[in-house]
Amino acid sequence: MHIVGFSASPRSQGSTSWVVDTILEGARSRGAQACSWSSATLDLQPCRACFACRAKDRTCTVRDDMPRVHASLLEAQALVLGMPIFMGQMSAQAKIFVDRLHALFAPRFSPTFQEGNAGKSLILAFIQGNPDAGLFKTYVGYTAELFRTLEFDVREPVVVAGTRSLHARDQPGLEASLKDLGAILAP
Ligand SMILES: Cc1cc2nc3c(=O)[nH]c(=O)nc-3n(C[C@H](O)[C@H](O)[C@H](O)COP(=O)(O)O)c2cc1C
Repeated sequence: MHIVGFSASPRSQGSTSWVVDTILEGARSRGAQACSWSSATLDLQPCRACFACRAKDRTCTVRDDMPRVHASLLEAQALVLGMPIFMGQMSAQAKIFVDRLHALFAPRFSPTFQEGNAGKSLILAFIQGNPDAGLFKTYVGYTAELFRTLEFDVREPVVVAGTRSLHARDQPGLEASLKDLGAILAP
């Protein structure tokens, strides 16, 4: 099984990348192959809405690092997407990543739907400074639903709260539970 991790944080050593990498570690312990990407180190530009990806060869015209991420996603059976909460929503880096998925994924009713691209498992991990893990419940549910329309098999979202005062790696019990999630992802 091949799993792709994506950390949509501008910080390479922040809680988001640690959460994504820890879930991947759990999956690797069950024999999965995993690679991880980060907004902190990639050049990822916003979608330009040229719709070239909807033409026959489905090629994205933006010349940046996203084609490499696209290629790994096409190979993968699962995606672990870590998103810091900025101003009550996914970070701008996460939104760029999600918009650029338009080149690969479409709802079933769309003329560009591709059966082979559907059905990937997805763990959404939200990382927030505020200690109340239920604070953005509506938004978390909405985001999960969005990915369901693209036919991702969306697992129970992960919310890591309280990073304002404690980096995720220092939160008691979190490492073990994230590794367990990764292990469950890899059958
Ligand atoms: C611009 C900005 C906006 C933020 N907005 C929120 C917010 O609305 N709610 C919240 O709980 N935390 C908020 N935070 C805190 C981040 O979610 C938190 O620091 C998180 O750990 C960042 O991810 P990182 O550790 O990977 O950098 C914000 C941080 C930044 C930089």
